Amino acid sequence: MIVHHVGYLVPSIEGAMESFSFLGFRKTGEVVRDEERKVFISFLSGANRALVELIQPVDEQSPVYPLMVRQGPGTYHLCFSVPRFEKESLLPRLKGLRFVPVGKIAPAPACENQEVGFFYSNKIGLIELLFTSDG
Ligand code: NI
Repeated sequence: MIVHHVGYLVPSIEGAMESFSFLGFRKTGEVVRDEERKVFISFLSGANRALVELIQPVDEQSPVYPLMVRQGPGTYHLCFSVPRFEKESLLPRLKGLRFVPVGKIAPAPACENQEVGFFYSNKIGLIELLFTSDG
């Protein structure tokens, strides 16, 4: 699988930009509000095209707010891109590896409404899969 981005939880996207700019990252587009997940999202691209997804809870009702309070700002998930046609064969294999789905697989406004799903393993933590339509 191909790493698509590193999800990075922050209390404020604007507050994080000074440091990420220093680290060589630039915003690739506008900040997107994900109503379903109650987060603001901004994608940043680094010098070697590494993608970082900054995730800011909209408010204290956001599902990721308690995690941010608990762990502080930092990496949150690794996202891998998977061709959409591999989804059905992949899910049972993930289950076999004892990955537990976290929420439903659903379109993500910040990723051109392609479907994403989160899976938790007690061996490696949280991963995200981005099911890409373009192969
Ligand atoms: Ni992500």
